Amino acid sequence: MRRIMLLNAKGGCGKSTLATNLASYYALQNKSVVLADFDPQGSSLEWLEARPKESPPIRGLAAWREALRVPRNTDYLIMDVPARCHGPELTALVRRAQTLIVPVLPSATDIRAAAHFVQELLLVGRVTRKETRLAAVANRVRENAMVEGTVERILGGMSIPYTTVHTQIYRPLERFLRRLKVPFITTLRDTPNYQLADARGLGIFELARSQVSRDLEQWQPLIKWLDSRRSMPKPV
Ligand SMILES: Nc1ncnc2c1ncn2[C@@H]1O[C@H](COP(=O)(O)OP(=O)(O)OP(=O)(O)O)[C@@H](O)[C@H]1O
Ligand SMILES: [Mg+2]
Repeated sequence: MRRIMLLNAKGGCGKSTLATNLASYYALQNKSVVLADFDPQGSSLEWLEARPKESPPIRGLAAWREALRVPRNTDYLIMDVPARCHGPELTALVRRAQTLIVPVLPSATDIRAAAHFVQELLLVGRVTRKETRLAAVANRVRENAMVEGTVERILGGMSIPYTTVHTQIYRPLERFLRRLKVPFITTLRDTPNYQLADARGLGIFELARSQVSRDLEQWQPLIKWLDSRRSMPKPV
C-alpha cells in the first residue's frame, strides 16, 4: 500500500486540496483509495460527502477521532494532516507515511514558515534516514508570476518548461531545500478550478479536460515523482 501524507504547520496552504485531488486521481485509475482525515475540521471528509455516487469511490476515515483501520486491499492511503501539528504528534504521524508532501504558498511568511517546518521534519530521524521521503509543492502561484519567471529564465539562456518554474519569491526556499536535498516538485497555479471541483466533491482530474489542461500538466511532475522510486523509502 502506498502511504502519502499532506502536511504543513501553516494553515490554508492546500493540504486538503492536494489530498482530495490525489485521492480523486488514483480513484480514477481504478485504484482502491482511502482518504484519512487527521484534521478535526474534517475538510477532506466534507469533500467526500459532496462526492457524486457515480464517481469512482473513495473511502473516508475520520482519523482524528478513531484508530486508523485501513482495509487490507487498499492501494493508496492519502492522509490529510491539520495545520499547527508539531512535536511528538508530528513525529507519530510521520511514521505512518512513506511520502510527505508539503504545499507552500508564495508569500514570504509562508515560505519562512515552510523552511522552519521542513527543518522540523528533518529532525524526525526517519526523513534524514530516507525511511520517509519528503518533497515540497508550490501552490496558488499567480500565472502572470509564472510567465515572468519563464521569460526571465529564457533570457538567462535557459529554456525551462513553465511547470518547473518557481517564481522569484520561491528562490530562497528552493536554495534552502536544495541544500537539504529536498526536491521542489512542481508549481500549481492559482485557479478557481480547485474550488469548483472541491464544491462538487471532485478532483480537477474529473472536470472538463479543456478547462483543466494546464492544471493536468502541472500535476504531471508530482504524479511522476509519486510513481517513482525517488518518493519511496530507501530499502533496508
Ligand atoms: N491552486 C489553488 N488555486 C485556487 N485555490 C486554491 C488552490 N489551492 C487551494 N485553494 C483554495 O485555498 C483554500 C485553502 O486550501 P486548503 O483547504 O486545501 O488548505 P489547507 O492547507 O488544507 O488548510 P487548513 O490548514 O485550514 O487545513 C481553499 O479554499 C482551497 O479551495
Ligand atoms: Mg485542510
